[in-house]
Formats: sequence, C-alpha cells, structure tokens
Amino acid sequence: MQYKILSTKYNDIKFIKLKSNFIEAVVTNLGCAIVSLKTKNKNGIFTENVLGFNDIDTYIKQDKYIGVVVGRCANRIAKGEFELNGEKYKLYKNNGSNHLHGGKEGFDKKIFDFNINENSIIFSYTSENGEEGYPSRLDFTVEYAVSQNAFTVKYSGISDGTTVLNPTNHSYFNLSGGKTNILNHKLMISADKFGKIDNEGLVTGEIQDVKNTAFDFNSSKKIADCIYKSDEQLKLGNGYDHPFILKKNVNPQIELNDEGSGKFLRINTTMPCVQLYTANYLDGTLLGAHKTPLNKHFGICLETSFFPNAINNQFRNDVVLKCGERFSSTTQYIFGNI
Ligand code: BGC
Repeated sequence: MQYKILSTKYNDIKFIKLKSNFIEAVVTNLGCAIVSLKTKNKNGIFTENVLGFNDIDTYIKQDKYIGVVVGRCANRIAKGEFELNGEKYKLYKNNGSNHLHGGKEGFDKKIFDFNINENSIIFSYTSENGEEGYPSRLDFTVEYAVSQNAFTVKYSGISDGTTVLNPTNHSYFNLSGGKTNILNHKLMISADKFGKIDNEGLVTGEIQDVKNTAFDFNSSKKIADCIYKSDEQLKLGNGYDHPFILKKNVNPQIELNDEGSGKFLRINTTMPCVQLYTANYLDGTLLGAHKTPLNKHFGICLETSFFPNAINNQFRNDVVLKCGERFSSTTQYIFGNI
C-alpha cells in the first residue's frame, strides 16, 4: 500500500491518501472519515464509490455522518438512558427524545492519532470516563487496510470498567460516482429478519420476517422497485432505515450492484447486523465533492453493527464490554466490475 499525508489548514487534522493498483482511498483522522474511495472501473479509470467532501470544515459542521466512524454506540439509544451494574446512565439526546450515533460530539467529531504501516493505517482515540455520558475510559482503534480489491475496516476497544460499545462506519455508498441517486442500484442482503422501528426511527424490539415484505433482499433487487411499496415500516422510516439480522457463513452477506457504472460492492462482516439507511434525510443542503447537492437517496449506508438500542433490549449482552475485555470486529468491502 502506498500512502501520502496531505496537510489541511488545521495542524492536527490530515487527509491521508492510501493506494493499491485497484483502490485509491482518501481518509482523515477527523472522525476516521472515508473521504473518497475510488476503484478502477471496467475501462481502467478510477471512479468514486462514496459521498465525501474536499474540505475539513464541512466534516466539522456536517450532521449527516457522511463517511465517518460513529461511536461509542451507533444508532439510537431509547431516551438516552440505560442501566449497567445497577447504575443508571444518562446520555445526550440529540435525536428527538433519543440518543443517536454517540451523542453531541461522538467519535465522528474527534481527532484521532494515527500510525501508518505496510498495509494499513491505524487510528486511535481514548474516550474518557463519562464522555457523552458513557461509563469507563475506552481505548479505541480503527484500522483501514487497502489490499488489491478490498478495503478492510477493523475496530478494537478495551476499557477500564464495564461499558457499552457498538461502533460502525457511516459511509454513503454511491457506485455511480455521484452521477445519479442510488435508486437504480441493486441490493442483496442475506437476512431473513429485520427490526421494526417507531416514528422516531427507534427499534421497537420487534423482529419481523422479511418474507413477502419490501424487506426481502435475499435475492438482488433494484431499490426503486422496493422503496415505494406500500408498507407501514417504509413510511415510518421515510424509506429504509432498519437493521437486518445477517445470515452467517454466506459470502457475500451484502452486495450492491450498479449497472450504469458496471461496478459491484460486496460486504462481509463479523458483526451480526447491518443498518440499511437509504439517505432519507439528505435534503440537498450539503454539497458533495463535485459541488453536487446531496439530495434524498443520493447514497446508501450499510452500517454493520450490533442491533440498535441493544443495551435496552434482548440483544443487551452483545454490546456490554467488560473491564479489560477486548472488543474487535472486522468488515470487508470488496469492489469489482460486473
Ligand atoms: C440512522 C438514521 C439517521 C442517519 C443520520 C442513520 O444511521 O439510521 O435514522 O437519520 O443515520 O445521518
């Protein structure tokens, strides 16, 4: 992997270019954002696969989590509250009555340290006891590795007391290189069950079979053919904004295809779920790298993680990280041409 560090107007924030023969990525230590993730198309030209911004200031001010790592806990925590070891913890409520994506200033707004080695870059950050209301001090790392056709993300965390941890990456994929929205992309998610949400986007804890619903992506389907179906859950989410429980031992677990650009993305993860979010709340006010307004459905997030609000529901044990135990997870994004 070749790399190059580019400075910005902020001393401690950098853009870092990572490169293999097939992949050209740009990342930053602000929120570990994936700024750009280009791969060679069938004509051998590097074209974009994610939404991103050219300048750090937009990363500082954006609230759509474009490209960033979110934590300590991705998605919503009901009423910003949970109990752990008999103690009640209160988190910042930044999404109506709920806590979202780590709070007011989650991992997405933190400046990480970084080290570059032969095949990867490792970002590290220490989240102090009580940060955003979360208990215990947490040492957290994110590794991005670039190999021939894969971009691999590894998260690791260890804390000095019991806490909760559920990080993810919040990249908005768009295999058209930002030319069109993602409604013509085809999506496959190997999952028989998904989690229902309420009118605030919070999971209700109810798990539903995808069979005979607009949520059955076991065979690849064009998003436009599914997202407008009459479905109470799609109405509540303003599109897809739901966790799917992934099947294990299938490869790939998730696949995105775009006939227009001739590209595919395949995802495998050690995490049990993926949050499918079809950029329902992008409204054109943010401009992307080529000054394109980022409108509704201009990207698709495939956030591999534990089940949302796990600390308050039946998936509680998944997210509890005990003192001195190491959390680790890996998600691999494989790119290619159809
Ligand atoms: C959530 C959405 C939220 C979005 C913020 C997604 O992960 O599921 O409900 O609006 O992040 O950008």
